[in-house]
Amino acid sequence: MSIRKVVKFGDPFLREKAKEVHKVSKKIQDLVTDLLDTMYAENGVGLAAPQIGENYRVFVVDVSTGDQPLNPMVFINPKIIKKSGATISNEGCLSFPEAYTEVRRYSDVMVKAMDRKGRSFVLEAHDGSLLARCIQHENDHLDGILFVDHALNRFDAEETLKEHNLPPLQVDKMLEEPELQAKIEELLEAVDTTEETEEQDEDDK
Ligand code: NI
Repeated sequence: MSIRKVVKFGDPFLREKAKEVHKVSKKIQDLVTDLLDTMYAENGVGLAAPQIGENYRVFVVDVSTGDQPLNPMVFINPKIIKKSGATISNEGCLSFPEAYTEVRRYSDVMVKAMDRKGRSFVLEAHDGSLLARCIQHENDHLDGILFVDHALNRFDAEETLKEHNLPPLQVDKMLEEPELQAKIEELLEAVDTTEETEEQDEDDK
């Protein structure tokens, strides 16, 4: 099909809530093909329909790397039905060229969706894997939520947007996520404690 233009941050279309797909018609299948063609052309690991100007609940993901065969995954009308754990993820987005910042994510998710043939499936992704984080990032796009809304550090996010000549952070859209933040703090404390213990062990030798 065709490589489409990616809608960039600042365009209000990225903030709209996408519509459910009622039938996986030829039109939707063509949309899936365009999403995959565009994602591969742009070297992305995920792309959601609103990013190519289509207001449907559809996204694609491919987390295969290097010499692995391509593994396109299609999610139509996705719903995250379970989420747990917490992780810090350094993310970017094709709608924010070159800009990366650390965001809060769940480490484990279970998602229910339809594939490109309209068949329902359930998929689990764990341990803060790229797939787990990517599913949350792309699913957010369908609700007009962008990765910077989850920024761990608002000032870092503002700085990176400015450096890449992108519009300023929309502070009113930022998510508070106190539970996720608390879990992340626990995680960071645990890492600190481990490092301290290791240092002590070294001193003992
Ligand atoms: Ni994105």
